[in-house]
Amino acid sequence: MQRSKPAEPPVAVVVARAPSDAPRGLLEPGWLERPAGTAVLLAIVLGLALSLSVLTWRLLFGPVPLQVPIAAAIVAPIVGLPLILYLQHIIHRLAQSQRALTRLTAQLTAATEEAETASRAKSEFLARMSHELRTPLNAVIGYSEMLLEDADAGNGVDEQHAADVRRIRSAGRHLLSMVNDVLDLSKIEAGRMDVQAQPIDLVHFLDDIAATGRQLMAARRNELRIERAPDLGTMVGDATKLRQVTLNLLGNAAKFTENGRITLAVAREPKAAGDWIRIAVSDTGIGIDADTLDRLFTNFTQADASIAARYGGTGLGLALSRKLCRLMGGDISVISEPGRGSQFTLRVPAG
Ligand SMILES: Nc1ncnc2c1ncn2[C@@H]1O[C@H](COP(=O)(O)OP(=O)(O)OP(=O)(O)O)[C@@H](O)[C@H]1O
Ligand SMILES: [Mg+2]
Repeated sequence: MQRSKPAEPPVAVVVARAPSDAPRGLLEPGWLERPAGTAVLLAIVLGLALSLSVLTWRLLFGPVPLQVPIAAAIVAPIVGLPLILYLQHIIHRLAQSQRALTRLTAQLTAATEEAETASRAKSEFLARMSHELRTPLNAVIGYSEMLLEDADAGNGVDEQHAADVRRIRSAGRHLLSMVNDVLDLSKIEAGRMDVQAQPIDLVHFLDDIAATGRQLMAARRNELRIERAPDLGTMVGDATKLRQVTLNLLGNAAKFTENGRITLAVAREPKAAGDWIRIAVSDTGIGIDADTLDRLFTNFTQADASIAARYGGTGLGLALSRKLCRLMGGDISVISEPGRGSQFTLRVPAG
């Protein structure tokens, strides 16, 4: 079998251009801050003083004696220069602040672009890697199923080997479900997860979930109870994602409860802007403490190391479930009490 090349994350090159300090136009304050600016401003003040004094003298007293422009030329720089220097000082401070702001904005834009590119590259890499991993994993699971079929048919596979193959199949399935979670999460993060809108017959949907859910109960001798409201009818939504999230919650309930009762309750909630569907999974299991509740829906979060060691898992299920629910326009909430049990409730618009 030909091995495909491992996917390499795309390399992000971000070029951030530093803002130029050079003034970009006649009206930009750059030149005004320098000695050239002082000279220009002084010339303007001088010109204004001369013309104003000559004009005023002529209007008020007639012919202008030479002393008038001379006096204006002496007084104007004495009064104007300190004012001009003060004005230039203010302009300089303003220009400095503006330049610092421009530099910061450019740095911020570059950093944001860099972070977004890195995040896209990570999601892309994870999506490709997960895809590459699924092919050999499916082969491992497929071949172990063939061997088990041979064992069931009595085709020369002894019970000891069959038990080993069962372990390989179960480990393979577990690994596959983790890879699928990572793939889904990275697809969502890369904005490449689509949501279907198709009519779902809720009674039929629930029967299907209940059938799979019952199989999950056997391992820890739990009982599954289904409570369905009489007016369920149909909804418009993504049946695959809704099924995935509900089974995820049922899987958790079955995992963290022993010799207990798990209830799957589905109801329609009428609201002014349209009906919602509520799916609640309650259990009588170990419950969750307040600290863990706060960070339950974060990737790779498990209650503590002892839970991880005892029950396995990666802490991706709830993070993924919430993201899927939000993609469908809904959300998941939880209430729980350590030692008494938990209730996870997902709500989605009925469409
Ligand atoms: N019904 C529940 N009862 C008690 N604790 C729960 C329940 N559901 C979730 N938890 C706690 O929340 C944590 C996160 O759950 P999540 O489904 O995200 O991860 P996981 O089940 O540990 O692993 P994974 O789902 O990736 O296989 C669990 O490790 C557990 O500590
Ligand atoms: Mg889980």
